[in-house]
Amino acid sequence: MQFKQLGRTGLSVSRLCVGTGTFGHQTREDEAFKILDTAADAGVNFIDTADIYPGGALPHELGSSEEITGRWLKDKRSRFILGTKGGGPIGPSPWDRGTSRKHLLDAIDASLRRLNTDYVDLYQIHMDDSTTPLDETAEALDLIVRSGRARYIGVSNFLAYRLARAIGRQDVLRLTRFVSAQPRYNLLFREIERELLPLAQEEGVGVISFNPLAGGLLTGRYRRDDDPTQGRFSQTEMGQFGAMYKDRYWRDREFATVEQLLSMASEAGIPLPTLSVAWILKNPAITSVILGASRSEQLRDTLVGADQEVQPAVLSKLDEVTSEYRRGDAGR
Ligand SMILES: NC(=O)c1ccc[n+]([C@@H]2O[C@H](COP(=O)([O-])OP(=O)(O)OC[C@H]3O[C@@H](n4cnc5c(N)ncnc54)[C@H](OP(=O)(O)O)[C@@H]3O)[C@@H](O)[C@H]2O)c1
Repeated sequence: MQFKQLGRTGLSVSRLCVGTGTFGHQTREDEAFKILDTAADAGVNFIDTADIYPGGALPHELGSSEEITGRWLKDKRSRFILGTKGGGPIGPSPWDRGTSRKHLLDAIDASLRRLNTDYVDLYQIHMDDSTTPLDETAEALDLIVRSGRARYIGVSNFLAYRLARAIGRQDVLRLTRFVSAQPRYNLLFREIERELLPLAQEEGVGVISFNPLAGGLLTGRYRRDDDPTQGRFSQTEMGQFGAMYKDRYWRDREFATVEQLLSMASEAGIPLPTLSVAWILKNPAITSVILGASRSEQLRDTLVGADQEVQPAVLSKLDEVTSEYRRGDAGR
């Protein structure tokens, strides 16, 4: 496994991070443990979770990804870099979401309880909250770090200009600075190359990208006229979350691109999931890629992505074939 410094910090993390977004809804605890074991056996020391996981959660399942992760980490907490996120909707009250001081201080304590640990290594704002002043959020996060509940802080799903403003305020106010961003990034969604990645490189912010296989579309397992009843793109199993994924990727253009990518992958003799992960990691702005799986076997082709050699000509061709997905109107 390769390691890389997280932004400008002294913290070294594995270039692959294991995601827990399926744990507790699609994936039961025994299989979740297998996923974590498989990743750890391959040298992954970085775990990503969030208070509102699993994706597609029924109300009683909210928080179960953190609980499962916490049970797996028992007796081995110190061997892993653990990141979680807060700020997503977690309860019925208006203050059970967002990045107010009240919510963040409640949310971190609830996450620590579920994870059964005294601290997380990385605490991230799950999504931007334009209703809370940036200074209030920055002060609450600074308190979280100073009180020892988190070692570092980061953002997820932030536009570049908002992250630039936030770190500017943190610098002016001499508060703990965001060290990482967690954006969506894959061969079918490249908007972040225009502004977020240049900002991250200039400001020494680490980038931990999610959704490397576009929810599974980049495995080539789906056809345009399929109507999945199970898995990420299914409304039956995943509810609104499944509908959101269909809205993001289920279009003629994406299916046509996947066909092109599949034939390039077969010509290169590399499975498309492996190539998709390797392509992301070749970008110097990227620190780690978060892998997702609902079953442990699914990690077989992605865990080798960090060590996969890819000819420069193949990488250039991948760039060329997917260049239209750099545009802001290429996806939501
Ligand atoms: N910050 C955020 O807002 C955010 C958002 C999303 C995810 N994340 C994090 O990033 C992690 C990874 O993201 P992601 O799950 O969207 O990644 P992804 O790699 O784009 O999608 C993973 C899904 O692809 C399918 N898949 C993977 N390997 C496969 C294989 N070999 N064969 C067939 N299908 C395969 C599975 O779908 P099925 O489940 O249908 O089997 C799996 O759950 C999550 O676990 C979470 O920790 C963060």
